[in-house]
Amino acid sequence: MSGVWRYRELLPFDEAAPCVTLFEGNTPLYEAPRSAHYSALDGLRLKHQGCNPTGSFKDTGMTAAVTQALIVGARTAVCASTGNTAASLAAYAARAGLQSAILLPRGQITPSKLAQSMDYGAVVCEIDGNFDDCMRLIQELGDDPSIYVANSINPFRIEGQKTVAFELMEQSAWNVPDHIVVPGGNMGNSTALAKGFQELLGLGLIPRLPKVNVIQAEGSAPLARLFASLGPGQLTGDRPLPDSLAPIENPQTLATAIKIGAPVSWRKALRAVLHTRGKIISVSEQEIADAKAVIGRDGIGCEPASATTVAGIKKLTAAGHIHRDESVIAVLTGHVLKDPDYVSRYHRGTLSLDSVAKDGSAATRPIVGTFRNAPEHVAATKAAILESLERRR
Ligand code: F0G
Repeated sequence: MSGVWRYRELLPFDEAAPCVTLFEGNTPLYEAPRSAHYSALDGLRLKHQGCNPTGSFKDTGMTAAVTQALIVGARTAVCASTGNTAASLAAYAARAGLQSAILLPRGQITPSKLAQSMDYGAVVCEIDGNFDDCMRLIQELGDDPSIYVANSINPFRIEGQKTVAFELMEQSAWNVPDHIVVPGGNMGNSTALAKGFQELLGLGLIPRLPKVNVIQAEGSAPLARLFASLGPGQLTGDRPLPDSLAPIENPQTLATAIKIGAPVSWRKALRAVLHTRGKIISVSEQEIADAKAVIGRDGIGCEPASATTVAGIKKLTAAGHIHRDESVIAVLTGHVLKDPDYVSRYHRGTLSLDSVAKDGSAATRPIVGTFRNAPEHVAATKAAILESLERRR
């Protein structure tokens, strides 16, 4: 059964809605003791949205958005994407028998994500530019009556994605965690989570809200930068939100899912964070990579963008925003197999962030494999294998 549609009473669809489902949701909430220890916490739970049918949290929103596309008789559903939204739209559109088209920044999508979109039969348009350029094109295309926009500016995406808050509360026996921590890219996920919790509060199902904390990658962190610039009055939500967000022109990060310089839903996400007294911070490439390896040692695989959460928790604990004994849930947004090349390069010690600045100058910043675990060449004998095991016990 779908873990989204079981909350149908809290979704804007009636009984007759032609649900397009791949049985999304119902994802595990894991205890992660090694990640907790790494972050200086007594305990830490990880909600693994990468266990959805196409391997990312996008499916919980896409089931609702594509259902709505059928209701309005859309001809073609389109999205701009760093890869996961595309894979999800492609799959759900295929289930619905609907054409899908996806705009991707050429050369900046992991091969696994691109392969998914091709497999599900989407029209894949590789655009010369970055995600923000693709997103601008989507907003222009949205004017065409034949086009149904499936990005998270689509309110039905947010409706579906908010159910993760309901699922989390059920899994936590309705004990509200002190902190929720999510990665921040285009800011749909943080917006949706906050909406879910706000609705539960409004219904009297929970007595208070968790603090919503959003973590961005250092080279793609326009909202963390804005947050850091807010004065005390603005941080308590007493003064109006800033009018605009200064975009990052040439965002950089190996966490390609969140390589976004001009997030469209920044205002809603910022409001939610301020309202719950959470924080928006950024973490470095090294911090993301190491946190990812630690999550791996808990037996839980995620993609780099998801690991910003544990890296961020470690920082927020050190800064005194999160206390050791508080209850913390991080949302892992994508599956480890979304980017196996990153994993392999980290563990072999060859991972680096190679960037080209607007002026054409190139830079390479190596990432240290702090917790590296490279394969070794072992002779095909029992003795050699036992010797290798002994050395690493
Ligand atoms: N984590 C992963 C794995 C993602 O794919 C994304 C966004 C995020 C985090 C950030 O979520 O945008 O709601 O703040 N991926 C989009 C995509 C942009 O096109 O797949 P957000």
